[in-house]
Amino acid sequence: MSTTAYPTRPPAASSTRRPADRPIAVEEPSSGSQLLLDSAAVLSYDPATEVDWDAPLDPDHFGLNPEWSTLYGTDLWDEMTHQQRVTLTRHEVASIMSTGIWFEMILQQMVIRDQYCGNYADPDFQFALTEVADECRHSIMFARACAKMEIPAYFPRRSSIELGRGFKALASAEIAYGGILVAEEVLDVMQRDWMRGADVLPIVRTTSRIHVVEESRHMKFARQEMRERIAGAGRLRRHNSALTIAIAANVIVSNMVNESVYAAAGLDPKRAVATAKANEHHHTLMRSSCAHLMEFLDELGLLSRPAMKLYQRVSMI
Ligand SMILES: [Fe+2]
Ligand SMILES: [Fe+2]
Repeated sequence: MSTTAYPTRPPAASSTRRPADRPIAVEEPSSGSQLLLDSAAVLSYDPATEVDWDAPLDPDHFGLNPEWSTLYGTDLWDEMTHQQRVTLTRHEVASIMSTGIWFEMILQQMVIRDQYCGNYADPDFQFALTEVADECRHSIMFARACAKMEIPAYFPRRSSIELGRGFKALASAEIAYGGILVAEEVLDVMQRDWMRGADVLPIVRTTSRIHVVEESRHMKFARQEMRERIAGAGRLRRHNSALTIAIAANVIVSNMVNESVYAAAGLDPKRAVATAKANEHHHTLMRSSCAHLMEFLDELGLLSRPAMKLYQRVSMI
């Protein structure tokens, strides 16, 4: 396993002068962000060397675990040939990876904007930039994986692209980090299964493993930032932030699997879209994937009634 070592910030020199009324500190505990920086220094990946990009694709391997297909568990799935299932799951994973690239580009701009002229010595600043560097490698990795599967990029709906343009330009504080956390949490649970799928393409298994490891730090950072930014916020601000994060979650989740994937697998797109929308198996998977996220939003007072309605629309609750 190859790792890329990032230099960590040397410990700050402590002052030799101490006011007499100040108790002797046992040892300053490391900040959350410093711990994340230390972890990134020990365990980060370079997908260019970690993934076997030259290995041929086994024609029998799925793009993602069949249980994660939007059609799994339906009559239509039972009617499909093995080859159609393989093709569909490869297009589904390519669509999710493409949506991942789209959101990672939004995320990078929000984080850079948030840290603009920040305190360069602060571990928060340094971890935020480490996260941007991670996301940059992730997007290239997903782009290469789609190219390897010979599947062109899938894009979100036009209206979502424009909403994303506004979100990346304007979102800040708990709204920006809330949007980031939603995207990362939803993908995390799926990828934990994909990285272990015995009949899943090795290229998907490895890219998922890299993403799961590095994103676990991003999720910790997003939760930490959300807690700090929303501390002391009044009801109105929490209400507005809850609603905006839920709208962002709707846009992200509803764009994950592009409707064109069904035609690519030789299915009747109208029937397939209707079947996927009514697929209770997939809805249950989504709900269980989001349970942890919903608990956290609730803890911060960000699970208002209007927000819950929006989460229900995309089976996140
Ligand atoms: Fe990422
Ligand atoms: Fe991330």
